Amino acid sequence: MKALFPGTFNPPTLGHLEIIQRAARLCDHLVVAIGESPHKYAATFSVEERMSLLRALTKDMDNVEIISFSGLVIDCAKDLKVDFLLRGLRNGSDFDYEYQMAAANRQMTGIETVFLAASPLYSHLSSTLIREIAVNGHRLHGFIPDAIEAEVFAKLSTITK
Ligand code: COA
Repeated sequence: MKALFPGTFNPPTLGHLEIIQRAARLCDHLVVAIGESPHKYAATFSVEERMSLLRALTKDMDNVEIISFSGLVIDCAKDLKVDFLLRGLRNGSDFDYEYQMAAANRQMTGIETVFLAASPLYSHLSSTLIREIAVNGHRLHGFIPDAIEAEVFAKLSTITK
């Protein structure tokens, strides 16, 4: 089975990595797809930077591939012929948003979305929180994977508050 895990990953967090690790065990091939989402951010990390961060995190995972996409998730899913979409759920607010997206995506294509409940260790994390911590000069240990902490902190800590 082939699955697609779409997200913005601006930047990737320990929570994202945990979902990727668990998802990779549920399918033969996991495609992690970085949405360009121009409406959402004045991209702190470019698509290329997010791609490089995610590749560094998954370099030892043989069945994980990192790509980027623009437009709708379901068009990307159809192009790649994936069997299902995969998303993490941290809390009830995520559920409300995800329910709507999953229902619309299934209505348009019949493609199902499978949800993984985030570990309670990481359910409070978000990329916005992480950006705010580092922009104010605090290190990111315990929030994002150690392998990318220095690079992410270096970029964020130079951004003017
Ligand atoms: N651990 C930590 N943080 C997590 C997380 C986890 N397990 N799961 C989600 N998050 C955080 C992210 O860091 C992000 O935080 P931020 O908003 O502070 O930056 C937030 O939750 C949402 O992140 P993400 O899962 O990346 O979702 P998204 O809504 O940003 O992007 C896309 C999801 C990429 C699928 C979507 O927005 C997109 O681009 N869609 C294209 C258009 C489309 O198909 N729309 C649907 C039509 S029906």
